[in-house]
Amino acid sequence: MHINPKPVKHFWQINSKNLYMKVRPSVKILQSQGLGSRRECENIFWNSEIFRNETRLDPEIDEISLGDTLLIDGNTFEITQYKYLLMHKPAGYETSHLPSHNPSVFDLLPKHYIKRGLQAAGRLDVDTTGLLLFSDDGQFIHRLISGKVGTKQEIEKIYEVAGARPFTELQLQRLLEGVDLDDEPEIIYASRASLMTDGRLELGITTGKYHQVKRMVAAVGNHVERLHRRAVGPYELPADLPPGSYIEIDPSPVLNRGSAKAA
Ligand code: URA
Repeated sequence: MHINPKPVKHFWQINSKNLYMKVRPSVKILQSQGLGSRRECENIFWNSEIFRNETRLDPEIDEISLGDTLLIDGNTFEITQYKYLLMHKPAGYETSHLPSHNPSVFDLLPKHYIKRGLQAAGRLDVDTTGLLLFSDDGQFIHRLISGKVGTKQEIEKIYEVAGARPFTELQLQRLLEGVDLDDEPEIIYASRASLMTDGRLELGITTGKYHQVKRMVAAVGNHVERLHRRAVGPYELPADLPPGSYIEIDPSPVLNRGSAKAA
């Protein structure tokens, strides 16, 4: 966003000891949205054209609140405590803030999302495509990556797997009965395993181990050629969402799930 370099007006207050600068709540809210440093957000608040419901805000009297939809210098921002995004991850992107050999999925998001602390809920390998969720709400991320298996909080992830060879009935059965993976203390089960009409495997898992799908498929004697994630818990990848694009989602299906105790 263009930040107008005009001088910022400050409010000064006096407490019992000294004179101090008062930060307007609006400036703190803008900062919480990842729109810049405090100084930059002061500049935005005092010097940018900010509209709410087609009315220009007067920084002398108006305040910004959570829930507002603002037009700031022509860009729309929904002011929210947290953000929840669903991305169609393309192949060739690493799920990391510090990628080693490829661009990062975070490069596909506007900078203000990164500045406000958006994290990916789990990882997809660089060559894996499909549904990837992001949020700056720690509770939402926690529920997605550590939803306990066998409880109401369990999160099933559904993958579509192209194998190097056709999948056999025996391989599907072995995935459902559980496979013994190196370095995993427990047997790992598929929550679903069936053949799709195009010959790919539809595989569901409820745990999130390192390269889990690739290792499970290798353990039954096949090899993953292409891997695509279609769903995570209540979220499905919309058929019309192009690779590299994202949408905002409603977190309530995850946040409102029953507690583990009630399961
Ligand atoms: N399992 C894998 O092996 N890779 C992924 O990207 C996701 C799950």
